[in-house]
Amino acid sequence: MSLATPVVIGNWKMNGLRADGLARAEALRDRLARAPGEGTLGICPPATLLAPIADRIGEHGLLLGGQDCSSALKGAHTGDISAEMLKDLGCDLVIVGHSERRHGHGEDDALVRAKAEAALKAGLDVILCIGETEEEWQAGGTTEVLDRQIEGSLPAAAAAGHLIVAYEPVWAIGTGRTPSTVDIGRTHAHIRSRLVDLVPGGARVRLLYGGSVKAGNAGEIMAAGEVDGVLVGGASLDADGFWAIFEAGRAGARSSPAGA
Ligand code: PGA
Repeated sequence: MSLATPVVIGNWKMNGLRADGLARAEALRDRLARAPGEGTLGICPPATLLAPIADRIGEHGLLLGGQDCSSALKGAHTGDISAEMLKDLGCDLVIVGHSERRHGHGEDDALVRAKAEAALKAGLDVILCIGETEEEWQAGGTTEVLDRQIEGSLPAAAAAGHLIVAYEPVWAIGTGRTPSTVDIGRTHAHIRSRLVDLVPGGARVRLLYGGSVKAGNAGEIMAAGEVDGVLVGGASLDADGFWAIFEAGRAGARSSPAGA
């Protein structure tokens, strides 16, 4: 799979029952079918909705992803879902290391790396999330934290084409607050330089920003340096609003010298 920019991925988190989840996925499938073109649009619904959504969206270009996977390939892990199971359902990608898993479920860098490796092995693309807490941000420790997370959780032998890194400041998630676009650009430039050092072809890793992205700020954020797209939580629960974010990214890609 080759990911064209902008890359716009919706993380539904623990939201959606069959009726509203399927309707939202179908609305996006239909919009993409009517307006194909540049960019990559994807959704990560709850695990319970992956199979019915995979059946509905078919080959219309909307990517499907899990929100997490096990580090184990199979076996006695009650309640867990393996990367191979996600792949088998028709998933293209999986999020690992989201801050709600790192902080809410005590996942450390080593576990996140193992999950990323399991996902790559199963043939999924990986969205690896990193980001500092509010305290770390206020203490000026952002780049130090990101370096530690990148070095600790980047999968060994990561192929640039199958890796997406999402910078999500924990304090910006679901709060309506975001770093300035200058700060986002600066932080992304730093992440890019680390990836270039650590991953063969690191310049090709897709770098997403996440945290309180909505239709009103998406264009500006995606215009910041080294931002290839966005990972969207709350605003991805409304098909119109989520599509507007994608359109803002597409418009920016068309008007930038690189996208021309
Ligand atoms: P948010 O969440 O857009 O609701 O801030 C982003 C995320 O957690 O990926």
